[in-house]
Amino acid sequence: MALYLSISPDPATLAERAAEVLEVLGGKAIETYGRFILCLAGGNTPRALYEQWAKQSSLDWGRVVLLFGDERCVPPDDPRSNYRMVAESLLATLPNQPYMLRMEGEAEDPAQAALNYDHALRELLGQQGAIHVALLGVGPDGHTASLFPGSDALREGSAFCVRTDAPASAAGGREVSRLTLTVPALRRARKLMFLAAGAEKADVLQRVVEGPLDPESMPAQFFLRDERLNVNLLMDEAAAANLSRRE
Ligand code: 6PG
Repeated sequence: MALYLSISPDPATLAERAAEVLEVLGGKAIETYGRFILCLAGGNTPRALYEQWAKQSSLDWGRVVLLFGDERCVPPDDPRSNYRMVAESLLATLPNQPYMLRMEGEAEDPAQAALNYDHALRELLGQQGAIHVALLGVGPDGHTASLFPGSDALREGSAFCVRTDAPASAAGGREVSRLTLTVPALRRARKLMFLAAGAEKADVLQRVVEGPLDPESMPAQFFLRDERLNVNLLMDEAAAANLSRRE
């Protein structure tokens, strides 16, 4: 496998290109497997992609299964909720609704919510099944999903979903617990699709993609630096500015 880079001139073109890629991959998955299992990224960057995709998609969304790579431990109507961002930017505009495995960010017991998600995901995938595409972002500290530098979640070798703490800086300091898929879970994806936009990502992308290999301190390297995985990194020019390689 390999890492494929795609550089778009600006965030709007990046969103269009990423939507086109997902539409093609989704159509192929539905044709081949009868369904498209897509793990969604949270944060801000994917919002433009979801809005663009919902506008132009002709997929049979009744055959799409949506998962979450992570969720903040807040209610689903909280402005910080990844589910809320997806509901507003994607679900609200779709012609028909996909099946969704939502992470219960509102749960009183986040560890139990993580266990519930682990069980639901294992039941969905079965022994050999795979996530067809996992969408991911990269945080300024090199985290992806809610796999933060130095966290115990990085060393989880069997569970597919765990509760973890986010550094206060990760979300305005107002919540620190998260639910996140783990490295083994994300490695069950046939394709990993990273999305990054903006000059504020240029430095971290250069360190993750071309810097010293240290996934414990730059967790996105678990995936972006693993030659066994099929990984696309879609960026705009601003985010790609410090990379020496362009494709
Ligand atoms: C989250 C995301 C997180 C995100 C990165 C990048 O819940 O915040 O899962 O991993 O993808 O922090 O976030 P932006 O796209 O907002 O830069």
